[in-house]
Amino acid sequence: MKKVEAIIREERLDAVKKALEKNSYFGMTVSQVSGRGKQMGIALQWRAGEYRVDLLPKIKLELVVLDEDVPQVVEAITINARTGETGDGKIFVLPVEGVVRVRTGDRDENAI
Ligand SMILES: Nc1ncnc2c1ncn2[C@@H]1O[C@H](COP(=O)(O)OP(=O)(O)OP(=O)(O)O)[C@@H](O)[C@H]1O
Ligand SMILES: [Mg+2]
Repeated sequence: MKKVEAIIREERLDAVKKALEKNSYFGMTVSQVSGRGKQMGIALQWRAGEYRVDLLPKIKLELVVLDEDVPQVVEAITINARTGETGDGKIFVLPVEGVVRVRTGDRDENAI
């Protein structure tokens, strides 16, 4: 099992969620986060001069899936989160040691 952790633009969340649903990936955790990439946020012009907003609001999407499903999930997120501009986000894939469904006690592959 792997956790796919994607940092995406807020305005791409609906499209990403729909694409995942269409491919039968339902379980996910969504959080509002702030972050920065290699441009370290954005420079803004203001009357008083230029200043930098170094942490921008983003959405973090987390899904735990079977190893074999990782390519499809990563592709669905990539295609639907992309605008082509800087700040489109990043996807991390992490190993998962175990899963338990609280209601039933189901474990691992039976619990995701
Ligand atoms: N190395 C990293 N570690 C953890 N989070 C990151 C990392 N790089 C980016 N992020 C997260 O992803 C968000 C979007 O990053 P972003 O898309 O700007 O990456 P980038 O490497 O600067 O790519 P681009 O040049 O396309 O902007 C950041 O706001 C941050 O939340
Ligand atoms: Mg960037």
